[in-house]
Amino acid sequence: METVKLKELIDQMTVAEKVGQLVQLTPDFFAQGGEITGPMQQWQMSEDQLFTIGSVLGTHTAEQVYAIQTSYLEKSRLKIPLVFMADVIHGYETIFPIPLALASSFDAQLVEEVAKASAKEAAEAGVHVTFSPMADHVKDARWGRVLESNGEDPTLSSVLTAAYVRGYQGTASLAENKQRIAACVKHFIGYGAAEGGRDYHTVDLSDLELYQNYLPAFQAAIEAGAQLVMTSFNTIHGVPATANQPLLQEVLRQKLGFDGLIISDWAAVAELMAHRVAADRKEAAKKAFTAGVEMDMMSDCYLNALEQIIHAEPEMNEQLNKAVFHVLSLKNKLGLFEDPFRGLVQGNLAPKLVQETRHLSREAAKKTTVLLKNQALLPLQKKQKVALIGPKAASKDLLGAWSWIGKPEAAVSLAEGLSQKEIDLTVLSYPDGEMLMSTFIDEACKVVKEAEVVLLALGETSEEAGEAASLTKLSLSRKQEALIEAVSQVNPRIATILFCGRPLVLTAIEPLCQAIMIAWFPGSEGGNALADLLMGESEPQGRLAMSFPRAEGQLPMTYAQLSTGRPLTEENNDQKYISRYMDEKNEPLFSFGSGMGYGRCTITHTQIINPQEKDAPFEISCTLKNEGDVPHTTTLQLYSRDDVTEVARPMRELKQWQKIHLAAGEERQHTFYVTPEDFAYVHSDFSTKSDPGTISLYLGFAAASAKLIGTLTI
Ligand code: NOJ
Repeated sequence: METVKLKELIDQMTVAEKVGQLVQLTPDFFAQGGEITGPMQQWQMSEDQLFTIGSVLGTHTAEQVYAIQTSYLEKSRLKIPLVFMADVIHGYETIFPIPLALASSFDAQLVEEVAKASAKEAAEAGVHVTFSPMADHVKDARWGRVLESNGEDPTLSSVLTAAYVRGYQGTASLAENKQRIAACVKHFIGYGAAEGGRDYHTVDLSDLELYQNYLPAFQAAIEAGAQLVMTSFNTIHGVPATANQPLLQEVLRQKLGFDGLIISDWAAVAELMAHRVAADRKEAAKKAFTAGVEMDMMSDCYLNALEQIIHAEPEMNEQLNKAVFHVLSLKNKLGLFEDPFRGLVQGNLAPKLVQETRHLSREAAKKTTVLLKNQALLPLQKKQKVALIGPKAASKDLLGAWSWIGKPEAAVSLAEGLSQKEIDLTVLSYPDGEMLMSTFIDEACKVVKEAEVVLLALGETSEEAGEAASLTKLSLSRKQEALIEAVSQVNPRIATILFCGRPLVLTAIEPLCQAIMIAWFPGSEGGNALADLLMGESEPQGRLAMSFPRAEGQLPMTYAQLSTGRPLTEENNDQKYISRYMDEKNEPLFSFGSGMGYGRCTITHTQIINPQEKDAPFEISCTLKNEGDVPHTTTLQLYSRDDVTEVARPMRELKQWQKIHLAAGEERQHTFYVTPEDFAYVHSDFSTKSDPGTISLYLGFAAASAKLIGTLTI
């Protein structure tokens, strides 16, 4: 439909119909085809109102979407199709590794393919928009939603956020390409900085921090074409983000140039009353709407109060029309006016799962698993006697908290994956909490006596990581730690496989393990992928996108710390008035970027070459050699430090990275190209520019261990 037609449509709408377009409800409102159901009664909603609403979130099947859209189009006056949205976070029915794991692939192409495959399954189930990617900057693993993030580095996060958007939406028209869906980037803004890592809690950020670290991934998503932005639950700069006019207007609309639809998070408009910045629903609606929130997700504030507000203040009509225009434009871009069912055909609505998507899930799990320690215990050898023990050994709880459509029973457990391999396998599993610890440990100790390698499959349950899953303790449960302690007394050849949604505190168990592999929540093909990796048929390729702390007390933490006036050095570590902990090291146990494969790479012949011509890039090159006797894929990481800056800047920042594959013994040169713009940063006047001066450069395989290779002058 042409834009002018959309405007004509708006002209035909009553204020009540316009307000309806700004409301998003769950499918249960339509459960009885529009009769007054429980939720409608609760909100004192009429049937007429129901058939004005603009959007539905969280449908489960194509049949459901088809039925709701059909009845809506029959009963609504203007027959503007509903737009269906859902949380498709890391897969729809076929589940991929969690986003924090995908970030650990450092692989934008993989992320794009995963998003594309997720979009296809979701679109076939009638979903038009996904509430993904989550672009929140994170540095506190107590916050359960780090699971959905791209980790602690804003550059990596920006690259991957854009890749998600490209994967979901494609680059062609969404109206023509019905296997793609629109992306809603979230949560604007600061949600990841909740005080104490407690979900939904207060956030207070300096503007500099906001601009430098929190906005870039949103900017990347918007530049990649994200159609929607979701506001966050938290307070920021003293005002809840959902009512924060300066942030939504001056920052999101003007500075970032976002011209799509702004939607609240679930019930966040009504929660303005709980924040005590609104006395009642009417005030909540007015504050959120004036701030710039256009669609009210699952609250009755707009539905029941906005019409009255507009009638009382007709000057708000312009803003109302603009908001409705954003909703209709989205529907138009999705092609809904021409085809409200977006390709769904009655009689052919069953899910069409394909083997390639399962295959991609398996490949993704291999590229996201992080091997953090290996004292020559892995890979396993054929025919080896292997004991696989622990609550996760045969568990199908591999999908993570955001896999509401994916079926755990369709996931492949580690025991199932390993049973396909040529090893002598004994499995001892238990659902966490269901067997007496002492009985289980006794049995485990008997089993491991005979084993050549012990695989301990441990970690979190999907309820322990994700939304509303904040923790103050990040170590394994006492029961799991006791298991490692007891087993290590009998057989020290332990490889621990950890399933988790966040960095854990492994300080107590690390010395008891000869190998540690972070499997995250690996998705539907987790067990097969891990079995391939454990057998050495593939190599673990993940590198941590978020540091693993030594202790919860170090949090929040990021490798990209600012300098302090009193840095801890080798020379002053016996002094008191130094920036340090008295009871713990400053560094994480495993820093950002850490991870290994089965090969071993060295870096030599590093060189920094100044540009020969004006505007040409600097060349930073080195020789990489795989010293091992198996093929190896490594992730070479380039970090920089701007030596003297106008505002304090990190001691190390990731600038570029490259995944490089080397055959056994192979030697290869790699060159990074950088320009002065790569060293631009946000100044105190909020301009982004680089300063003349020297930049120190570090090359390596993790943030903490990358080595200084020299400086360049810009
Ligand atoms: C609440 C979550 O914060 C948000 O990420 C999600 O998209 C919505 N619920 C919708 O389910």
